[in-house]
Formats: sequence, C-alpha cells, structure tokens
Amino acid sequence: MSSEQVGPLAGREVLLVVGGGIAAYKSVTLAREILRAGAKVETVLTAAAQRFVTGVSFAGVTGRPARIDLWDASYPGELHIELTRKADAVIVAPATADLLARMAHGLADDLATTCLVAAKGPVLVAPAMHPRMWEHPATQANVALLRARGVTVIGPVVGPLASGETGIGRMTEPEAIARAVVAALTPRRDLEGLRVLISAGPTHEAIDPVRFVGNRSSGRMGFAIAEGARDRGAAVTLVAGPVALADPAGVAVVRVRSAVEMRDAVTAVASGFDVVIMAAAVADYRPAEVAPAKIKKSHAELTLRLVKNPDILAELGAARGDARSPILVGFAVETGDLVAHAREKLARKGCDLVVANLAEHGFEGADNVVTLVSAARAEALERMDKREVAERILDTVREIRASR
Ligand code: CTP
Repeated sequence: MSSEQVGPLAGREVLLVVGGGIAAYKSVTLAREILRAGAKVETVLTAAAQRFVTGVSFAGVTGRPARIDLWDASYPGELHIELTRKADAVIVAPATADLLARMAHGLADDLATTCLVAAKGPVLVAPAMHPRMWEHPATQANVALLRARGVTVIGPVVGPLASGETGIGRMTEPEAIARAVVAALTPRRDLEGLRVLISAGPTHEAIDPVRFVGNRSSGRMGFAIAEGARDRGAAVTLVAGPVALADPAGVAVVRVRSAVEMRDAVTAVASGFDVVIMAAAVADYRPAEVAPAKIKKSHAELTLRLVKNPDILAELGAARGDARSPILVGFAVETGDLVAHAREKLARKGCDLVVANLAEHGFEGADNVVTLVSAARAEALERMDKREVAERILDTVREIRASR
C-alpha cells in the first residue's frame, strides 16, 4: 500500500464494489490503479465475488479490510451508510447482469446493493458477462435505465472471454476504468458556455408503413459525445435517429426517423451552435416513393428505386460563412486508405475534423478504433471505450476553436 496521497484523486475516497464474475481478479489491479491516482479505497465484495477472489487480496492492496457483510457485528454503526457517506464515487467492477438488474430496480438486500442505493456521488459500472447475457433485452433495458439516471457505463469491450469464445462482454481493462473514475471525480468544465449540436444513430427510410431501408448504427458514439460534452459544461442538443438508447439526463433530445427529418431538425437550429458533430450514419438514399399501404407479396420481383438524400454535413459545410460559423465534425467509415479518404471528405464536406474508422473495426460495440483527421494532422488512437473516444474528439474540437 502506498501511504503518500499524490495524483489527481488526492484526498478522495472511492468505494469499489466487486461483483461475482471471473473478471473480479482484475479488480485487485483496479484498486491498485485508483490508489495510484491518489485516492483511498474501500472494497465491498458480493457473496458471489467471494467465490472468485478473497477480501485478503483487496485488504493487502488497499490497507483496509474488504467489507462483505451488511450485518458485520464488529461494526457498531450502519456500515452501508458510513461507506457511502465518505465515498466521493462508487465503481462497480465487474458489474454482473444480476448486479445491474438489482441496481436498476433499487433492490437492497446485501452490503453491495444497500451501498448502491445509498450512494450519493457519481456511480460508474464496468459490466462483464457472456455476450448472450449482455445482449439480453433485460440487461440492455437495465443498462439504459441506469444510463438515463446518470450512471456511467464503461464497456464492456470485445475480446476473448472466459468461455473461450470471442465477443462483447469482456470487462474494460483496469487502467481505463481507473481513468474513467478520475474523469468522474475531476470534471473538466472546459466546454462551459459552448452550445454543441450532435446527431446520432441511423436513419430509417420508409418503404411502406411497416418497412424501411436502414443501417445497423447503434447511436452509442453520438450519445457518448453528448454525455461527454454535457459533463464538460456544454449546452447539448442531440438529434437522434431510431436507436434503443434512453435520453441522456441533462441533454435536449430531438427524435427523428428519416434523413430528411434529421436534415430539417439539424439545419433549423445549427446556426445557433458553436459546434456541430454529425455522428449519425445518415442513409445516403431513400425509396423514391413510399407506398401508402403495406406492399403485398403478389409480384415475383420487386424493384425499389432509390433517390439521393440530402447530405446534411455537406450542406452545413457549404453554408459556412465567417469565422464565427460552427466548428463542423464529420464521421467516415472506410474500407481502406483511411487518412486519404478522410482528407478528401474533410475538403469536400467543408468540415474541420473527420473522425475516421475502418469498417473492419466494427461500429456496433462499446469501443472504437478511430483516426482524428484535420487539415493539420492525422492522429491514430488506439482501441478505446466510446466515451474515451468522445473525450478525445472534444479535446480536438477545443484545440481547433483555440486556433481559429
Ligand atoms: N452525412 C450526412 N448526410 C448524409 C450522409 C452522410 O450528413 N446524407 C454525414 C454523416 O453524418 C457523417 C459523414 O457525413 O458525418 C459521413 O459521410 P459518408 O456517408 O461516409 O460519406 P459520403 O459523402 O457518403 O461518401 P462515401 O459514402 O462515398 O464514402
């Protein structure tokens, strides 16, 4: 244990709640990383967590006994109230499907869950589970509810799993979770006064009243940018296509379906914003005609004629006037020659920054591998959580504003 308290979390207290998953062994490293950032750490283990790790490891690292029992007779007061009174932040890692469900429903029948209901500061969760459990609608609904309540969800990420398979469900690495804890406790208000407009998700282009042409964008990248900008003090408006994500707290959300609706929503307000970030995967084409009634399968073949949608970003780029016009950020998914294509898009759509990624890296998961391409440089980032990508995009937007 280190006795010196230096680092960004000096003087702060963090409560680490460890759930019962194989990733629990990594939470010992997480405790160590939080200590290295300068905080003191209390640990609570669920009953299931103790099947994977023992309190002794955490006590050895943190210098404090790990807490496991709500009814701890050696403690005279209310342990859950005491632990959460002094905790500046709570991090749940690994957060199992069960623990997320308990949190979402406010259950409180053991030390971990009573602490989570009594917590007062920022709460962060680092889910870890098999992909089928992560993708189960119940888990997704619970996570959406927690996000909407302001809980920060870190990961999970894609990678090798305990089952021997590879997929989404691996806990984010302890170093990255610790960085998220630091970020939650040392909020930068460096976007205060800025008005930021963000688009997110796919667009659905109607074929008839029940069918559409669309794409698989989850909207997570745009929502992560909205949450990041909000936490850094910006006034944020989010124009979201059809996605399964709940409205982030403290963000003005406009829900749209089609590219034309998105264009109307974005262009109606864009000039009042300092920054416009088009993270949406806007459909390039829409059916030329929308059938007024459901198309019956009476023909052997069906040909859909598609017409081009407005290019919202290019329209905003073309309308740019003086130096006070908003900073424009576009996204680009490419299959090769990433920087060259991004540079071409930067010029053609008249934007200040293009966030480019290769299609092979996927775009539906919780993390992303992107290159930030501006006129001045191309910065290739390693694979990281979308929230971290969001922070890096916002950092670059600040730099561009400063250099104007
Ligand atoms: N975009 C937009 N309106 C469209 C299509 C895209 O505003 N109708 C924006 C996206 O939000 C994203 C960027 O433009 O920020 C992505 O452009 P993309 O569709 O990848 O580029 P294209 O211009 O369509 O070029 P190509 O498909 O040929 O690569």
